[in-house]
Amino acid sequence: MQLINGKEVAKATRDKVKGDITEFFKEKGRIPCLAVIIVGSDSASQTYVKNKILGCEEVGMKSLSYTESESATNEHIAAIITKLASDNTVDGILVQLPLPKHLDERYLLSLIPDSKDVDGFSPNNLGLLAMNTPRTISCTPFGVMELLASTGVDIAGKHAVIIGRSNTVGKPMAMLLLNADATVTVCHSKTVNLKQITSQADILIAAIGRPNFVTADMVKSGAIVIDVGINRVDGKLCGDVDFAAVSEKCSYITPVPGGVGPMTISMLLSNTLMAAKYE
Ligand code: GUN
Repeated sequence: MQLINGKEVAKATRDKVKGDITEFFKEKGRIPCLAVIIVGSDSASQTYVKNKILGCEEVGMKSLSYTESESATNEHIAAIITKLASDNTVDGILVQLPLPKHLDERYLLSLIPDSKDVDGFSPNNLGLLAMNTPRTISCTPFGVMELLASTGVDIAGKHAVIIGRSNTVGKPMAMLLLNADATVTVCHSKTVNLKQITSQADILIAAIGRPNFVTADMVKSGAIVIDVGINRVDGKLCGDVDFAAVSEKCSYITPVPGGVGPMTISMLLSNTLMAAKYE
């Protein structure tokens, strides 16, 4: 088994973004800027946002952060997004999810112009990916593709099985793998005979959100296993894959932490730089 070192691959991407930002500054006389909005005090979200801001600092990108109270109204958040949308010194707008239940996520995200949607969550950006003419690609699945590329294994013709069908990970992941000529199966909570399907996977992507959900008996010998899960058990981070047992059986595996997580932020920085170059 070989470990896919997310930190290392993420660092290579960040170094590239850092160099490109220097070039961008020489050409345009300004630094790309990411605006991040967080509503409420969910501690996992706070950690993610903190790491996104630190990522910006690491590559010399400007960031703006809006920390709004749990009781903020739709109108209040909408006003912030609308202001950022028309500010041409802001290149990317990210609203950290999940939002408190009383807020209208679909409406608020729809206020982010496609050109500043650095999460790649907008219907247009998802649609362009589905048509294999992508513009902005969701950071987590995009990062997974980079990690797969780092193994040097050819994806074409491989059977990729994704567990999870979210709009943010499972669905764009399926489209990216299809675009790379894999044969793709998407499994979810209603899937019958899950183990029978996952056991056929050459590439298995776990994006469920349940600790140690993927056990060794669900994995084909020699498979590539990508663990997208970030769970906290007794204050310790763990993924969706039973790492100790599955790593005995697979060819490549991503650890948690240090696998997909650092890649997600690198792809966000890369997407923001790309958005800055649109104008
Ligand atoms: N919450 C968990 N992951 C993400 C992400 O990639 N983007 C946003 N906006 N919120 C998230």
